[in-house]
Amino acid sequence: MSQKTKLLATSFNCLKISNHAYATSLKNIAWWDKVEMGPPDAILGVTEAYKRDSNPKKINLGVGAYRDDNGKPYVLPSVQKAEQIIGSSGLDKEYSPIGGNPEFCKHSINLALGENSDIVKNGLNSTVQGISGTGSLRIGAAYLGNFFPGHKDIYLPAPTWGNHIPLFKHSGLNVKTYRYYEPKTCGFDFQGAIEDISKIPEKSIILFHACAHNPTGVDPNPEQWAEISQVVQKKNLFPYFDMAYQGFASGDVDRDAHSLRLFIKDGHNLCISQSYAKNMGLYGERVGAFSLITSSKDEAARTMSQIKILIRPMYSNPPIHGARIATTILGDPSLKKQWLVELKGMADRIISVRTQLRDNLKKEGSTRDWSHITNQIGMFCFTGLTPPQVENLTKNFSIYLTKDGRISMAGVTSKNVEYLAHGIHEVTK
Ligand SMILES: Cc1ncc(COP(=O)(O)O)c(C=O)c1O
Repeated sequence: MSQKTKLLATSFNCLKISNHAYATSLKNIAWWDKVEMGPPDAILGVTEAYKRDSNPKKINLGVGAYRDDNGKPYVLPSVQKAEQIIGSSGLDKEYSPIGGNPEFCKHSINLALGENSDIVKNGLNSTVQGISGTGSLRIGAAYLGNFFPGHKDIYLPAPTWGNHIPLFKHSGLNVKTYRYYEPKTCGFDFQGAIEDISKIPEKSIILFHACAHNPTGVDPNPEQWAEISQVVQKKNLFPYFDMAYQGFASGDVDRDAHSLRLFIKDGHNLCISQSYAKNMGLYGERVGAFSLITSSKDEAARTMSQIKILIRPMYSNPPIHGARIATTILGDPSLKKQWLVELKGMADRIISVRTQLRDNLKKEGSTRDWSHITNQIGMFCFTGLTPPQVENLTKNFSIYLTKDGRISMAGVTSKNVEYLAHGIHEVTK
């Protein structure tokens, strides 16, 4: 072997060895050995435990998704019809604009504020399509985290939907709370809320659930909303309305938008997150909208440009299919009418099982006051059950719910309501 060939062979072997060592060392690097195991999601954990249970009488009241009276997921016929129309329309699969489908945005703000709103007529809204309610809230949180000119503090009702807390924290907002729920009455703590809101420093952000408060099912009445609006105005607070259940609470989209429209009428500039998960049953399609109500057309244009700049590096642009479904329904008067009937059907079924649960508890012989079951509204009922009672209900009756005593009324049917009432009575008597 010549000297040159020898040298070449040696360097080739060295390369082989170093490549091997590199591959071995790469394989052995535990980049994530300091990452701790996180706790399971509280609600999804309930479903997992439910799935493992072999009791044929088991009931899952953890998850907030509508079920029909046979306990089955429900695809709205209006949604099916819209999908047929979309399927036969030959639409392409091109990217959406950053702010989503413009027609969808127009329909969404009209649904929220009502047709013929002056805000829309005067171009005072910057509305973008978001990834369902959560994604739309996240856009709003990012916008406020970057641009809100006052305190970066957001005041949430106590309790609130669990995801609100990390969602706003991730955007750099400080999460604080105001009193909302009164355990003694299982109702709204109006006095406490007004007292706390009056003490919030001026130019802070305050979050409201527009209707069907999650997890309590407790909403202020119209007179209480009017007073809250006055205090918020007096304190110069910026209201953020989370409207995840429009139409799902009362069965009437206008009635469920009362609080938001009252605030608009009172002159608040505010922001809104909407979701079509519940009211159109489009859970997995992830369809929602975020709107900022501004004081001028120019302000709307400027804020819109910044919202798009925030969206672009997050997910570039939203998915197209779900927004097409919502647009097809909202843009076709007869399909919209059909959807409103189906929406009322879902709300009415929930209202009806609330009465059935209360009646069955009475039939079981319970002497406790269960009036809050029918006074509360929307997907959830905050039963007032204590954590040990919840544990007992799960262990001995295979009835699954979150530890805070919240039950998803959507999981209650005419077939399981008797058994549920029996279980609740047994653990509370
Ligand atoms: C109060 C509230 N806001 C927002 C959401 C977000 O829902 P989604 O992201 O599924 O539209 C929910 C869902 O449970 C909710 O209850």
